[in-house]
Amino acid sequence: MRGWQLFFSSVPKNQFYHSFMATRPSFFRLGLRPGGFYGFPGSGGVDVRQKTLQCGFTMPALGMGTWEFGGRDTRNPDNDDAGQIRALQVGIEAGLTLIDTAEYYAEGHAETLVGQAIADYPREKLFLTSKVWKTHLDRDSVLWAAEQSLRRLGTDYLDLYLYHQVSEEVPLLETIGAMNELVEQGLVRNIGVSNFAVPRLQRAMACSSAPIVVNQVHYSLVHREPELGLLAFCQEHDVMLQAWRPLRGVVASELTDRLCRQYGCTLPQLALAWLLGQRQVTTMTAMRNPKHVPENAAAVDLVLAESDIELLRTDMPGLKHTSAVPLR
Ligand SMILES: NC(=O)c1ccc[n+]([C@@H]2O[C@H](COP(=O)([O-])OP(=O)(O)OC[C@H]3O[C@@H](n4cnc5c(N)ncnc54)[C@H](OP(=O)(O)O)[C@@H]3O)[C@@H](O)[C@H]2O)c1
Repeated sequence: MRGWQLFFSSVPKNQFYHSFMATRPSFFRLGLRPGGFYGFPGSGGVDVRQKTLQCGFTMPALGMGTWEFGGRDTRNPDNDDAGQIRALQVGIEAGLTLIDTAEYYAEGHAETLVGQAIADYPREKLFLTSKVWKTHLDRDSVLWAAEQSLRRLGTDYLDLYLYHQVSEEVPLLETIGAMNELVEQGLVRNIGVSNFAVPRLQRAMACSSAPIVVNQVHYSLVHREPELGLLAFCQEHDVMLQAWRPLRGVVASELTDRLCRQYGCTLPQLALAWLLGQRQVTTMTAMRNPKHVPENAAAVDLVLAESDIELLRTDMPGLKHTSAVPLR
């Protein structure tokens, strides 16, 4: 039985379920259950899986990425904007309330698409992340870039603002100082970094008055650079490690086939659950095709045994201690 079939068959068929589904046909089509993780946040009774740091920072464990929404590093004029807006809305309705975007993606157009997708949803139910690109790291540019991101997203605050990619051109203190100003102004609730190695993360933490709550890095069943020290550092120092690109490059093997059979799950679900099963690790995946939403959302309910998490850590074929964007 495939993961989605197992999931669908576990939906309770009681009276409430039938009356709920009568008014929520889109949930029925997707095989989603009411309430819990899968209930649309605005409908009440929400329990989006969250992870929390000791400092009190809380974020959804699994979210949606927007790389390749609207284009890649430049905007694609032939992009299926409407389809991608709809895909984000299907995700929100499935409880995936964290959306990760960046000014860099499609030259800001990904943020515009996110803004259109979220326009009719209660802002407080969403968790929006954006990132400042490496050409905008001086103080004035950080403040300007954040303002532009807010405008494109159609919101007056970000839940999380990240320093996207390392550049040596502007002192770290200046960039982090500007990000702190955004926190003081209430335009950004939390700040973090991305693709930072331990020494630079330590320096950012030392010079910031607001806690650096997230380091967003390439981490998956295959890409393991964070295991060389960063993951342990984050776990010891109250920083969430948010794994980007959790699925790309993950290839089935005898081991993953056996575990997928054992847990009744698909390979993407196994790859996501392996990350989510680790302390202080969260993740997000891009789904331009909404058919991937129910399958991926169900991964938050898949709990792998600690021994299987460790087995995959040591025995996953083809693992590399490199990242597409190397830690610096
Ligand atoms: N901070 C950084 O430097 C950085 C760098 C890279 C990425 N990111 C963020 O991390 C997010 C995730 O990374 P990513 O988008 O590069 O890679 P990813 O999430 O690992 O993979 C996305 C790809 O997987 C496909 N997919 C998703 N669910 C699937 C499923 N259940 N079955 C089969 N295919 C599935 C998607 O297809 P469809 O699109 O066709 O649905 C898409 O082609 C990005 O979108 C971005 O927000 C951050």
